[in-house]
Amino acid sequence: MKILVIGGGGREHAVIRKLMESSRVDKIYCAPGNGGIGCDAENVPIQASDIDGMVAFAKENGVGMVCVTPDDPLAAGMVDALEAAGIPAFGPNRAAAQIEASKVFSKNLMKTHHIPTAAYEVFDNPADTLAYIRKQNRFPTVIKADGLALGKGVIIAQNMQEAEDAVRTIMQDKVFGASGNQVVVEEFLTGPEVSVLAFTDGKTLKPMVSSKDHKRALDGNKGKNTGGMGTISPNPFYTKEIADECMKTIFMPTLKAMNAEGRPFKGCLYFGLMLTPDGPKVIEYNSRFGDPEAQVVLPRLKTDLVDIFEATRNGTLDKLDIVWKDGACACVIMASGGYPSSYRKGIEIHGLDASGQVSGATVYHAGTVKKDGRFYTNGGRVLGVTCSGDTLDIALEKAYAAVDKITWDGVQYRHDIGRA
Ligand code: AMP
Ligand code: GLY
Repeated sequence: MKILVIGGGGREHAVIRKLMESSRVDKIYCAPGNGGIGCDAENVPIQASDIDGMVAFAKENGVGMVCVTPDDPLAAGMVDALEAAGIPAFGPNRAAAQIEASKVFSKNLMKTHHIPTAAYEVFDNPADTLAYIRKQNRFPTVIKADGLALGKGVIIAQNMQEAEDAVRTIMQDKVFGASGNQVVVEEFLTGPEVSVLAFTDGKTLKPMVSSKDHKRALDGNKGKNTGGMGTISPNPFYTKEIADECMKTIFMPTLKAMNAEGRPFKGCLYFGLMLTPDGPKVIEYNSRFGDPEAQVVLPRLKTDLVDIFEATRNGTLDKLDIVWKDGACACVIMASGGYPSSYRKGIEIHGLDASGQVSGATVYHAGTVKKDGRFYTNGGRVLGVTCSGDTLDIALEKAYAAVDKITWDGVQYRHDIGRA
């Protein structure tokens, strides 16, 4: 089978590496891909948001399965368009992808169906938003743009001044565009965060092994929120007991809620959870694999990923046994200096071999280009250096040993992944 993977980050590279282990795959395309991905798959110069371009390419090239990995094309209906053209696609359709694309939708879904989450109110104008926050007078308070915002649409305001700045940024300056037409103001929760990705066909839901992201840019959980600076799997806080509770109070109720709304979800559903003193609560849903969660979860998957893609699409997930490796996996993101604010591109990366790897690790490329056999930075997050081990300590030690072999001018990474 020929497979097309949509996107061009570290997560997509992790998907491709897993697909390369499948006996059912002859050829992998990635659109648009990146320098490192090009060593494992054929990069196709079509932007991830170009639905017509993608359908045409898949048809012309006899693609048998498309994995729509990023949030924007899912929210824009790429799966609907591919399926309508007779091309099997992994991922939720447009209606189901709303669970990530609109926070107002997902919060209302949770309220209606009694799924534990932070208390909240929705507003569509700055004056009402600020009047509510002033009246509440409870800080920190959390302000979220309704729509997709590259992981930057959540602001935790410590005081009224910061709340005013956040509301101005989102609702008046519209830095996230129409995503800021509405905001959710919600209660600030505390506790360890856990990411749980799950495969689902709309009837059956099979959670993957758990993971933990490190969202802040700097050591000690300081600095700005990023797309994620590193991950570990499993998440040490996520016990079997908590997993059972989440299945009962969050995962299956979410699946049923989506069915009740007429939006059955097929694909990978991501639960961003917080283990609060009052029990596990949902911080956010994503309609896709997390990045960099996929980089530590997928390496632990033993079952053929193509079989899973087909089972989620065909509604036969109940018949498929999904098997995971024991042990642990760790991923350290190497980023451009300055990320997540402004950073330079086009800086030569030293220490990688001709296929973009180093010995003793798997290097997932997030933002690189390859020119004349050399790799250059081409994004905020550049590489995800990943290792497995019998224990988390071993995985982390190996990952940091591999990180030490790679460098470029201005490289920035966290030294405390798995420890903070
Ligand atoms: P999100 O993009 O919704 O995952 O939010 C980004 C980050 O903001 C989360 O990973 C949390 O660390 C934090 N966050 C979001 N909502 C809340 C909340 N209600 N209480 C505390 N922290 C939150
Ligand atoms: N790592 C968080 C996300 O993929 O949204």
